[in-house]
Amino acid sequence: METYNGNTLMKMLHDADEGGYAVPMFDYSDIWDQMAVLEAAEELHAPVMFASLPIGVNEIGLEMLGAIGTVTMKNASVPMIHHLDHSTDTAMCCKAVDCGYPSVMIDASKLDLETNILHTREVVRYAHAHGAVVEAEIGKIKGRGYEGSFDGGDFLVKTDDAVRLVRETGVDTLAIGIGTAHGFYEGKPEINFKRLEEVNEALDLPLVLHGGTGIPEEDVRRAIRGGINKVNVGTQIRCTYMKSAQEIIGKRGYTTHTVEIMRDVKEEIKNVVKYWIRVCMADGKA
Ligand code: 13P
Repeated sequence: METYNGNTLMKMLHDADEGGYAVPMFDYSDIWDQMAVLEAAEELHAPVMFASLPIGVNEIGLEMLGAIGTVTMKNASVPMIHHLDHSTDTAMCCKAVDCGYPSVMIDASKLDLETNILHTREVVRYAHAHGAVVEAEIGKIKGRGYEGSFDGGDFLVKTDDAVRLVRETGVDTLAIGIGTAHGFYEGKPEINFKRLEEVNEALDLPLVLHGGTGIPEEDVRRAIRGGINKVNVGTQIRCTYMKSAQEIIGKRGYTTHTVEIMRDVKEEIKNVVKYWIRVCMADGKA
């Protein structure tokens, strides 16, 4: 039984950087996909993160999610960090810290740089005073997803802006817009590896790749070599959840006990989690 805080995550990401792998992060919707992440990570001896999105927070509440997440982190036999993903609300980020999240993301990337810096700095101050760490975003993640939408062409992170955001906020980890998108890709994603390497060269903090679903394995590995330490996956978890629930209910009928259906759904989600742990080369690293 261990208690995890922001320092634990920074050590996990530092170890990943030294070891040439990335820590995978999975967005969950409820207890079933959260347990799938836990069991897959334990079976593959991998360090992982699991994250709430604001859509779930607005339904279930941070107290409930924070309590479940805290028990999960404590009982896991591998390092697992609970994270709040893509909150655009500084108050939600601070409340998540109060509810035991060791890591929160303030996503002010759609606002101008000055405002992004102000929002990020506000959350960093609160989080650091309470032992938690903060992820910010610069440039934009493309696509339409539950994490927010961006269809414009101006997605690519500017290295100078990234340096300024980090220097003026003291943020701990940084999501960067380099061409990846939330949701499914139409065709192959075009990732700007050159810009990734430039940003990595200019900064000394863990970089985060968003929009994992649909990125080919070789591109994820190349991004890890280029400086990515954390890889986010969401859509594939949710779609596997919904599709397998539909198929299993279709086969076994809706009068089957919910737990029997969900036990099998969890196994399907575990396969996806294990796939991503291996793509990130995090298996055996716990
Ligand atoms: P996908 O939904 O495309 O996998 O992206 C998830 C993500 O980046 C969450 O922050």
